[in-house]
Amino acid sequence: MLTGSKVALRARHEEDIPVLRTELYDDVVNSSRAEGGPWRPISPGSKDSRLVVDDSAEGKVPFSVVELDGGALVGTATLWGIDNHNRAAHIGLGLLPSCRGKGYGTDVVAVLCHYGFVVRGLQRLQIETLADNYAMLRSAERNGFVREGVLRSSAWVLGEFLDEVVLGLLAQDWKPLPKG
Ligand SMILES: CC(C)(COP(=O)(O)OP(=O)(O)OC[C@H]1O[C@@H](n2cnc3c(N)ncnc32)[C@H](O)[C@@H]1OP(=O)(O)O)[C@@H](O)C(=O)NCCC(=O)NCCS
Repeated sequence: MLTGSKVALRARHEEDIPVLRTELYDDVVNSSRAEGGPWRPISPGSKDSRLVVDDSAEGKVPFSVVELDGGALVGTATLWGIDNHNRAAHIGLGLLPSCRGKGYGTDVVAVLCHYGFVVRGLQRLQIETLADNYAMLRSAERNGFVREGVLRSSAWVLGEFLDEVVLGLLAQDWKPLPKG
């Protein structure tokens, strides 16, 4: 288990799956904005890769995010697109609606940076997010990510094309946030 100042990242448990499915992935607006593809429903018992972890998929490490205090499930976090030649990867996260705006997102990014840079020895982490996703942009920038470019009209989201921002952070520029 990896810990930050407010949250911990642990393995996906069976009992997390129905909560994530109903509170996160059944939400058409959230899924359409966060996933870069068309929303479609996930059936109970489905082996959908957003919920059920394939431990043999080496390029992707999914976590469940829990509160440090009490262990309640608050969302998901992923290191994905892991490229061990260029020593780079992408990060992604999604919090349950009731758990947003409490500083957890900033802390999840901090823990993913520790995992990527310290545990995995990566050199570069990248985030892509919609240009109007202020909470994601701020969570990334609080951890030292810098905006590297705008992908104009790159995301089709519920009837319109939106811009995406690419943010990057290099290992040598990373300063871990103070805990607490
Ligand atoms: C994006 C997300 C992970 C951010 O996590 P969070 O816990 O809500 O964010 P935090 O509470 O850590 O806030 C981070 C910063 O954003 C600001 N912020 C939070 N919500 C905001 C909002 N709706 N509008 C503007 N700023 C906002 C906070 O004030 C904070 O700024 P500060 O560092 O200057 O104090 C979370 O909101 C989420 O899961 N959203 C839905 C899924 C999603 O968009 N995932 C990312 C896909 S790329």
